[in-house]
Amino acid sequence: MVNIGIIGVGGIAGAHLAGYRQLPQANITALCDILPERAAGKAGEIQLNIGATGGTAVQARPYQDYRALLDDPEVEAVDICLPTDLHADMAVAALQAGKHVLSEKPMALSVADCDRMIAAAEATGRILMIAQCIRFCPEYQVLKAMADSGADGKITHALFRRLSGMPRWSSDHWMEDPRRSGGGIFDLHIHDADYVNFLLGMPTAVDARGVEDAHGIGQVMCAYHYPHTQAVFAEGGWCYHDGFPFRMTFTVRFEGATVEYDSARGPLAIFRDGCEPEIPTLPAGDLYTNEIAYFLDCVATGTAPTVVTAFDARETIRLVAAEAASVRGGRPVAL
Ligand SMILES: NC(=O)c1ccc[n+]([C@@H]2O[C@H](COP(=O)([O-])OP(=O)(O)OC[C@H]3O[C@@H](n4cnc5c(N)ncnc54)[C@H](O)[C@@H]3O)[C@@H](O)[C@H]2O)c1
Repeated sequence: MVNIGIIGVGGIAGAHLAGYRQLPQANITALCDILPERAAGKAGEIQLNIGATGGTAVQARPYQDYRALLDDPEVEAVDICLPTDLHADMAVAALQAGKHVLSEKPMALSVADCDRMIAAAEATGRILMIAQCIRFCPEYQVLKAMADSGADGKITHALFRRLSGMPRWSSDHWMEDPRRSGGGIFDLHIHDADYVNFLLGMPTAVDARGVEDAHGIGQVMCAYHYPHTQAVFAEGGWCYHDGFPFRMTFTVRFEGATVEYDSARGPLAIFRDGCEPEIPTLPAGDLYTNEIAYFLDCVATGTAPTVVTAFDARETIRLVAAEAASVRGGRPVAL
């Protein structure tokens, strides 16, 4: 059993709570939010892109000041579900208070802040995991396993897309402020940038174009340069109009198979010449519950995460920052 304290009880915390509830090894000990009704365990019925929250009422010690939660000796691990600009300071404070930390993506809005978080984890010997949930998403796990097995040869080209309207649920509308969220490129597109890093490693360069307004870079289309794969692209953004349906998709061609997934259209399918399309059985669980179960296992066994290391998440921030520089400069940026 791991005793958890959640700091920030808004949209994503509701999805995490739904995951914790399925895991007998999790005990939600404390909740902290500046909004008292949320600290009391009544997170709003917030509709996220993936998964609705709701039914999040939970019995746990309520705190409105994070310092009180960090002083609570029963809390072993802290789950940071705060606006992005607060991640780095909160993670450092929690690690220094002796807590293990699961922090939402993006890790931070600068590589320097990521490095502060990593230094605090190293100094305290506590676990720091960043919730890059797509690494734990069943469809994307199937694709990763195919690439790692090599049975269908190498990836020749790949396209990832993640599109939505502007998220309207955030408290104080912090997501609409690029100084707090980093804009759609850091908040939404980062999922695919991180997955590209997971699947293929860091590219040698990025060449990105995008659309920037008062909410930051809301839309980006990026080419990732690799010596071993001819064409890897991702498109992501949240600047479509209200009501535009969220979708995440990929089409990836290996030498011997094509894999396609579109969350709006149907299950993942694998196509091979001369064969009927294959609809594989997916790994169990959903992305949030899988990621949380993995974190709890790392805490319980004292093992550093390997599916997503803190350095991986830091490299993804470096990658997205390079994409933003490429959008603004209108030319490729080497990594
Ligand atoms: N992995 C995913 O799929 C996913 C989805 C949505 C959000 N996120 C990430 O999760 C984080 C939170 O996003 P959200 O959508 O839940 O935002 P949100 O606005 O719905 O929730 C944030 C909560 O933090 C509280 N808060 C703000 N400042 C605080 C403070 N100093 N102390 C305590 N509580 C405080 C707010 O009152 C609010 O309840 C962001 O970094 C976002 O990028 C990830």
